[in-house]
Amino acid sequence: MTGRIIGLGSYIPKKIVTNDDFAAFLDTSDEWITERTGIKERHIADHITEKPSTMAVEAAKKAIEDAGIDPKDIDLIVTACTTPDLVIPSMSCVVHEAIGASENCGCFDVNSACPGFVAAWNTVQSFIETGNAKLALCIGTECNSNFANYNDRGTCILFGDGAGAALLKADESAKPNQFIMRSSGARGGCLRCEAARQPDRWEEEDFKTATSFYMQGREVFKFAVSEVPQIIKDLSEKFSFDLNDIDMFILHQANARIIEATAKKLGIPRDRFPMNIMNYGNASSASIPMLLTSLKAEGRLKPGMKIVMASFGAGLTWDANYIIF
Ligand code: ACO
Repeated sequence: MTGRIIGLGSYIPKKIVTNDDFAAFLDTSDEWITERTGIKERHIADHITEKPSTMAVEAAKKAIEDAGIDPKDIDLIVTACTTPDLVIPSMSCVVHEAIGASENCGCFDVNSACPGFVAAWNTVQSFIETGNAKLALCIGTECNSNFANYNDRGTCILFGDGAGAALLKADESAKPNQFIMRSSGARGGCLRCEAARQPDRWEEEDFKTATSFYMQGREVFKFAVSEVPQIIKDLSEKFSFDLNDIDMFILHQANARIIEATAKKLGIPRDRFPMNIMNYGNASSASIPMLLTSLKAEGRLKPGMKIVMASFGAGLTWDANYIIF
């Protein structure tokens, strides 16, 4: 038994912030941001009505509607979130109540930064493959704008907000979940955000900025363009498939140049790497399920397609999966 996607849904915040909007208060330009990142605009959450939990609920409801199932049959909810509006209860428990799931449904969250959705996916699949879940929601939701430092032009222009959800159903005919997960805690210093409540740090002058995203962009860029193509190659060797046979490479939407460099290094045509970064920026753990949802809505994602998902981010962590849609 392995989980197969039977429903997808996303929630995109209403407010659009363009590159020109940033140029109005920062020393930057539409030209610089477009050329270096591929981003033209991003959606930023209303911090009162569009919290990570509420966006996760909306994405989950759409995935349930897409699948046409009874939420009472869902027996597991795992949500990836790095920017939650609640420490407790988990985002998954908020979704549990809102969709009317039963008390036979397990709920917890995972924090693996941008690769969170892939980590949540592997967790859900492990439950399904060991017979401990049959119908599971796997969600990524983020309000990155809550943690952005709007004085730092090198990071704040990258991020967008949103949520995406996939409903996975146990299927005897699906092939086993095939993945590789890697991490390097030693290299984690280039991408950090401190927790807000640390009484021993309150007196420190720079503590306020430490509770926003801190990133050494060039270091993260170098890490991504080297490790992402490598883990995809390793995945194809480990599970003996030909990368040329893959229909779509669904990569974390962090920077168009990283995706283009990955396609080039693998020698795969760029059109097999769909992107939505131009309109959504980097939505962290929500980026992959948001992209899957829009590809399905556009009719580009079809049953039986061979897909590689890959992501990378803070930790440092990076992973790749081979799935059949
Ligand atoms: N507008 C104009 N100039 C800028 C901007 C901006 N928004 N941001 C930086 N610059 C300047 C820098 O100050 C620097 O100026 P200097 O040469 O005078 O010092 C110059 O542009 C070049 O800076 P770099 O940082 O070297 O620019 P680079 O080409 O590397 O692009 C970027 C920066 C876009 C951040 C890139 O490094 C990147 O995308 N890195 C990866 C980030 C990422 O993918 N993060 C994902 C993980 S996020 C997570 O897990 C939460």
